Amino acid sequence: MTKRVFSGMQPTGSVHLGNLIGAFNNWVTMQDEYDAIYCVVDFHAITMPHEPAELRVNRTYLAKAFIAAGVDPERSLIYRQADVPQHAELMWILGADTPFGPLTRMTQFKDKSEKAGERFGLFAYPLLQAADILIHKATAVPVGDDQTQHLELTRDIAQRFNGMYGEVFPVPERITPEIGARVMSLQDPTSKMSKSDPDQNATVMLFEDPDRVMKKFKRAVTDSGTEVRYDWDEKPGISNLIEIFSVFSGASIPEIEAEWGESLYGHFKVAVGEAVVEGLRPLREKFESLDDGEVEGILTSHAARGREMAEDTLGEVRAAIGLA
Ligand code: TYM
Repeated sequence: MTKRVFSGMQPTGSVHLGNLIGAFNNWVTMQDEYDAIYCVVDFHAITMPHEPAELRVNRTYLAKAFIAAGVDPERSLIYRQADVPQHAELMWILGADTPFGPLTRMTQFKDKSEKAGERFGLFAYPLLQAADILIHKATAVPVGDDQTQHLELTRDIAQRFNGMYGEVFPVPERITPEIGARVMSLQDPTSKMSKSDPDQNATVMLFEDPDRVMKKFKRAVTDSGTEVRYDWDEKPGISNLIEIFSVFSGASIPEIEAEWGESLYGHFKVAVGEAVVEGLRPLREKFESLDDGEVEGILTSHAARGREMAEDTLGEVRAAIGLA
């Protein structure tokens, strides 16, 4: 079986540290070992209210962010989901046999419905995600911790289909980083870092000005006490910073505790901020060097290849269910 990796990200604005640590870092390393496909999931992005002009810009911006983060278009396929409409056809087919109980229990469906009201797109969202993954027969899906439920559902859908119609889909494995699978807000370390957070200091964007990044770390909320110690129950703010520092410095968590345990919180926060600023520098430089026209060209040609690959799977699926 081909080792194939698929993952997606929504073009809903800037990209942040959680996206980098939870997803991009694995996307980049997995290119070496896997046949890789990374997708700007614009069909998913329209499940929340959106401005058409902003979406248009964000679709290209996000593809540039993929490349700036280290996705190599020479080795990996990068395309926009809406350019490969086969995703939507497979979603319909998979939905035909999917009970809706599990869809109503998805936490992201519940959270987003609270914000945006009842929208069929939010309900059907995980079915489309399953179709994204299965249309490429992906064997591995690198994501952050918040996608666990969606991945479990994808595995169930693949198994149900194979059981009913014969082995068509591999059952994909979820890949999350050991450290940083859930990067938390710098202002409220009990909630996830998110691009929709109204508090500007909560989220560190990948290509933002280094001074602003530094300020956000200096202002990061810490905990009572004085010790720099890894303990999510007692010290969520410091534990979040320790994880971020570990990812950017390469030091293990015990090494960080040994070196910084007795330091003042303020000094530790500066050290984390400096490590992040240095680590993000090459990404920002790469992002700024990219030409929109060239990236458009890559997306167009890669989408053509994506359609061919998706058609191959759909051919098998149609035959398996009696539509061909
Ligand atoms: P999205 O666009 O919200 O996020 C993209 C990726 O970033 C990860 N992530 C985080 N990781 C760690 N800490 C955080 N604070 C954090 N915030 C976001 C997400 O887990 C994700 O991996 N439903 C998906 C998009 C999608 C998809 C797919 C993913 C659509 N089809 C198929 C994989 C395979 C989403 O909304 O991701």
